[in-house]
Amino acid sequence: MSSSTPPGSGWIVPFYDLQDRLTGCYSAPPHATHVEAARRLREQYPQATRLLELGAGGGQFAVSAAAEGFAVTALELRAAGVSHMLRLAREQGVTLSAVQGDFYTATPGGPFDLVAYWDGFGIGSDDDQRRLLTRISGWLAPQGHALLDIYTPWYWASHAGYTRHTDTYTQVYGFDRAACRMTDTYVDPSGQRHSQSLRCYSPDDLRRLLAGTGLRLARAEPGGMFDTGTGTWHPQADWASCMTFQAVLVPE
Ligand SMILES: C[S@@+](CC[C@H](N)C(=O)[O-])C[C@H]1O[C@@H](n2cnc3c(N)ncnc32)[C@H](O)[C@@H]1O
Repeated sequence: MSSSTPPGSGWIVPFYDLQDRLTGCYSAPPHATHVEAARRLREQYPQATRLLELGAGGGQFAVSAAAEGFAVTALELRAAGVSHMLRLAREQGVTLSAVQGDFYTATPGGPFDLVAYWDGFGIGSDDDQRRLLTRISGWLAPQGHALLDIYTPWYWASHAGYTRHTDTYTQVYGFDRAACRMTDTYVDPSGQRHSQSLRCYSPDDLRRLLAGTGLRLARAEPGGMFDTGTGTWHPQADWASCMTFQAVLVPE
């Protein structure tokens, strides 16, 4: 199997650059949820020191984790995300290793006690995901844990069509039932459409995906949900309504 970026992934940098231009989500300071997520990780894994974050966006979690005392390596494809991360680290007075690179080809070092990938798993095909999982297995220390947010098919299937109108853009969620992928489309002020798509998995789907990667699913916990009716985010939902679940993976 080749170890290069998957074909068809040329949309990734332009899409997240555009999402940042429209929403500012990767240029913001850390939010209380990033600080809380880092604090919880410290509490759950008191012995862990070396943390690798994949697809670190604008570095808001990475910087919060460094402030909790983790030795953070943050890997991100977007140059603008890495620049923002370094700016945040300077402002907050923390140090971290920010690596601009592609997680299919980069060599971020290791071994790591924790590998985290928040809100991004599923960008490629099942084969791409297996390739990434095999790499994660190689980066983990023998007693290490990988923590991944996984999108659930049931949430995204039931929210297909949800549309958010703002003064500057329109955002529409969809769900490709045949491919089991959520789609997230921004319509910019000129009317041009820009989409991302992520593969959704149940815990059982993920168990099958993990076969041969060197990792096994140790735990799965329901994550949060965005209530499209009230427009509010709930950080903790139940299995029936969660938008993501958190998979805790360990070496086999
Ligand atoms: C949905 S965003 C989530 C960002 C961040 N984890 C967060 O929760 O705010 C996915 C991120 O993964 C990055 N990414 C996607 N493919 C990547 C790859 N092959 N290597 C490194 N980063 C990648 C994107 O540039 C983007 O910043």
